[in-house]
Amino acid sequence: MCGIFAYLSYSSPKERSFVIETLLNGLSRLEYRGYDSAGMAIDGNANNETRIYKQVGKVAALRKLVGEDEKDMGHVYQSQFGMAHTRWATHGEPSSNNSHPHRSDDNNTFTVIHNGIVTNYKEIKTVLENKGYSFKTDTDTEVVVKLIKYVYDSQRGAKLAFPDLVKAVCRELEGASAFIFKSTHYPNEVVVFRRGSPLMVGIKTDKKLTADFVDVEYFNEAGVTENNSDVPIKRIQNQLFSTSHSDNKGVEYIFSSDSSAIIEHTRKVLFLEENDIAHISQNGDLRIHRLTREEGMSSIRSIKTLEMELAEIMKGSFPHFMLKEIYEQPESVVNTMRGRVDFANNKVILGGLQSHLSSIRRCRRIVFCACGTSYHSCIATRAIFEELTEIPVSLELASDFLDRKSPIFRDDVCVFVSQSGETADTILAMKYCLQRGALCVGVTNTVGSTISRETHCGVHINAGPEIGVASTKAYTSQYLALVMMALQLGEDRSSMTERRQEIIQGLKELPGKIKEVLNLDDSLKQISKDGLHGEKSLLILGRGYNNATSLEGALKIKELAYIHCEGIPAGELKHGPLALIDETMPIILIMTNDIHYNKTRSALQQVVARKGLPIILCNEGNEGLPEKCKTIVIPKTVDCLSGIMAIIPLQILSYHLAIMNGVDVDFPRNLAKSVTVE
Ligand code: F6R
Repeated sequence: MCGIFAYLSYSSPKERSFVIETLLNGLSRLEYRGYDSAGMAIDGNANNETRIYKQVGKVAALRKLVGEDEKDMGHVYQSQFGMAHTRWATHGEPSSNNSHPHRSDDNNTFTVIHNGIVTNYKEIKTVLENKGYSFKTDTDTEVVVKLIKYVYDSQRGAKLAFPDLVKAVCRELEGASAFIFKSTHYPNEVVVFRRGSPLMVGIKTDKKLTADFVDVEYFNEAGVTENNSDVPIKRIQNQLFSTSHSDNKGVEYIFSSDSSAIIEHTRKVLFLEENDIAHISQNGDLRIHRLTREEGMSSIRSIKTLEMELAEIMKGSFPHFMLKEIYEQPESVVNTMRGRVDFANNKVILGGLQSHLSSIRRCRRIVFCACGTSYHSCIATRAIFEELTEIPVSLELASDFLDRKSPIFRDDVCVFVSQSGETADTILAMKYCLQRGALCVGVTNTVGSTISRETHCGVHINAGPEIGVASTKAYTSQYLALVMMALQLGEDRSSMTERRQEIIQGLKELPGKIKEVLNLDDSLKQISKDGLHGEKSLLILGRGYNNATSLEGALKIKELAYIHCEGIPAGELKHGPLALIDETMPIILIMTNDIHYNKTRSALQQVVARKGLPIILCNEGNEGLPEKCKTIVIPKTVDCLSGIMAIIPLQILSYHLAIMNGVDVDFPRNLAKSVTVE
């Protein structure tokens, strides 16, 4: 949902071509967040001006444009700063004009890149229009860049410091956003702001940092930094390098929506909190200010060390991230379980939940809340959660939950499942539940994300970075993490000891069995070609633990192959969807060998009686299936884990169908990986 990236080399200019390459590379790492258009602003040409490039389409198109234009300049001139943006259109069509960076005027007095939505932009636009401003784009961002110019120009007397100016502007804005601001009035400074959209600062230096945190400075109402003893400021000077500003030489700062664009530069990262304003001053100091003063907010921002490896965000020998991520599942499930499952003693210990176990066990209900694929992992694991914990579980789609303003109580436990940890609907639902005093648990794949930071406790699924826009390995790891959570919570129920043992032994065999499913790739490609390619519509039926598999499989096929596809609980078939069945309707029926087998078999008979010829996804040893039906045979596992096995063939089918339909698999149209708007 838009990726923002900026690079600043304090006091040591770099070759302009180096800065451009750094920006393009950063953008390509963030491209999964939006790929309608891309743009960049780069400082320092012959006249030391800012140059802006914008292009519709993916980063490759921007690279071409910039390459042609800069071929004579790149190695001649130097630059210290550039900012870049990859867009997922919210306000205004994807066009070069609407692309970022946006600027206040033809002189680029202020330039801004933005991820998010300013919900009150129309009101601000009207005010500015009345003051004589005109607008060249349909975006909310242009309103912000004009507003900052207006506030600057309206100052009388003392000139506001750059962060104070940004503060004055951001105070007027509503909605969730992250911004990077640059101005010719403040030549070597950069100010960034975060509220509701992720933003982090990478710090690259050869020198040893003299502190592993940055203090927070507060503004008072007059916009003056407070530093009296009432304010929780330990030091307000830059304490990262030393007390001497000359030591900031050679320091590079990288600002990004996501750590995947930072890791190749540095592992040292500072995650901004809600309403933080980060300022790189003329001296190269990094300072953190607050837009608002909040009780209980930490007065420091720690500098964290990124654990991820560069290889994790590269495609390696795979043609697409999605395929790589599908093939990573034997390892990603191991990583989800690593250090947490004691197979010898049949125990699961999730450290992040340990201190809240008794409160969770005492709750009156558990509410699972998520969107899209993450929501499907909740559907998939609800039954085993209820069985092992005997606590009722309700399921909430975050957007619908917010629309309904569903009642939430202090004795509810609310579990927020999100790969990115930054999905706006899920975050808002989390905030709603936090306000009502519920115990909030996060299940995310992204360390440092909003959901992982703001929930009371939680589990990182440790699937590793997921770059493909369609979620694959995160789904299986979310599913697994939720099963593990149920095992840990249910540990006090002795009547369930054998059941828990059976599941834990099933977990042990999971990676090997996933590898067996991946061996079906060639036959799945054939089935996609002979049985599904060219179809306009497809139904996927499943029951019990595979009800969620049918929904998730259908979502994969829709978003990747652009084929209309519906996941239907097999028990519902006779209540309406059966009317769709005839000899022409393509169907996949999931019929794994569990307690629901006979009922799913009835669904098969209902389909066959209407001349339907489903492709059957089943376990080995299934006798008596109609001879004409194609089968996809997967290894049998414990019933509650069968959805992990069954989704993988559907992920692979959707991949092949997408390729056959000419879809850019990692970047399906109209989508973005992290949906940070409501
Ligand atoms: C589909 C997909 C989306 C996400 C949804 C929630 O393949 O990836 O449906 O699952 O947007 O995202 P997270 O899990 O980041 O909250």
